[in-house]
Amino acid sequence: MKNMPKKDVDKIISYLKQHLSKARFNHTLGTWRVARQLASKHKVSRDKIDIACLLHDAGKGLKNRQLIKYVKKAKMYLPYLKEIIKNNPSILHSFVSADIARKKFGVRDKEILKAISSHTIGSPCMNTLDKIVYLADITAPDRRYPLVKRLRWHASRDLDKAMRMALKNKIQHVIKNKKWLHPGAVESWNSFVAPNVSKL
Ligand SMILES: [Fe+2]
Ligand SMILES: [Fe+2]
Repeated sequence: MKNMPKKDVDKIISYLKQHLSKARFNHTLGTWRVARQLASKHKVSRDKIDIACLLHDAGKGLKNRQLIKYVKKAKMYLPYLKEIIKNNPSILHSFVSADIARKKFGVRDKEILKAISSHTIGSPCMNTLDKIVYLADITAPDRRYPLVKRLRWHASRDLDKAMRMALKNKIQHVIKNKKWLHPGAVESWNSFVAPNVSKL
């Protein structure tokens, strides 16, 4: 790819430094680094990856009540919004981050915005950009959980296999903890195990 112009990177970095905790800022840089490695391993263009990764958690500095306020003020009509607000408002940060990317940084590319907004629950029919951003986020160097090493290994070899492992792990974790499962996570899962079902 053409590298992102330095002035754009600088502008985003300075925004993130102001709006994110140090840990979240470092996580963002780690996600970006991992995504670049994945792009190179899978021989895909880094086009779009840089900006999607840098902005994927742009709204993560907001507390849950601020995320809810943001979504309502911006009139973002999201599927299952009431359920998200009631059960797991932190999911909103991915949609808010996409909105910040659009409004603050003028990102108009639909693929970049989708990769940002689907980095928490996934989405049906994820493309390579979506998968790389999703996997880079959950395998960033600051992540610590039992499956993370295996996920890193698989992500660098087979994005779909790594996605199935990651979604399975996330869904099982939610069910084990008797939490509300966002239907979008089920749709993402289904699209990886029965990808052509809609074409039948
Ligand atoms: Fe996130
Ligand atoms: Fe993240």
